[in-house]
Amino acid sequence: MTQEYMLQAAVVTLFPEMFVALTQSGISRRAIDKGLVDVQCFNPRDYAMDKHRTVDDRPYGGGPGMVMRVQPLQDALQAARNYLPMPKDKQRVIYLSPQGRRLDRQSINTLAQHKNLVLIAGRYEGVDERFIEDEVDEEWSIGDYVLSGGELPAMVLLDALIRRLPGAIGDAKSAEQDSFENGLLDCAHYTRPEILNGRKVPEVLLSGDHKRIENWRMKQALGRTADRRPDLLEKIKLTDAQEALLKEYLQEQK
Ligand code: ADE
Repeated sequence: MTQEYMLQAAVVTLFPEMFVALTQSGISRRAIDKGLVDVQCFNPRDYAMDKHRTVDDRPYGGGPGMVMRVQPLQDALQAARNYLPMPKDKQRVIYLSPQGRRLDRQSINTLAQHKNLVLIAGRYEGVDERFIEDEVDEEWSIGDYVLSGGELPAMVLLDALIRRLPGAIGDAKSAEQDSFENGLLDCAHYTRPEILNGRKVPEVLLSGDHKRIENWRMKQALGRTADRRPDLLEKIKLTDAQEALLKEYLQEQK
């Protein structure tokens, strides 16, 4: 029987070696080792037919910069699609580019419904627009800044998807408590020593009173979100208890 992965990603990239950052370290590595995830790279250069294995081409209309050459890109995409076990209509082809919609918690949760992803990491000025129109289902950006290629964004997307797979994180609770999982920023964390540069750990965390600790953490999460990212608070409905904690936090700030 072939292996049943929770997520299979076929990545089209001119720099497959970059993906060791994802596949050889930490949580994502462990998820791969456990057989939860499979990541395979397909390099357009390996599909270039000419002697010099050319992967870039000049843009129509002139101007600086190059565009990814269509034929090697298309053949690498075909190989990526053929690699994935699910039929074509169950696969999702994603192109990472600054022109895409901005990734956030909600979009990650929606993307997580797909078990077979093709990720296309662009280089140079990007890819031919007709290729996007014909082959790409979704175009996503990781933020309003330009990176040298789509590899880091593809890894950002994969890491965010991998860490939310059941079994990927040792302590299931820690995924639930991640920033944003409840729409809030995470609270502050402390470890030993109890006094660091003359500054003491908040008393409540030493109390052993789990209910009080939980309340304190929620209050801090609410407060930080209000201070730093009030836009996030507008997107969620707070419970009455949360409203009360936030009010307390704001009162204490005065
Ligand atoms: N490629 C280059 N910059 C990018 C960004 N900000 N998001 C996604 N892909 C990109």
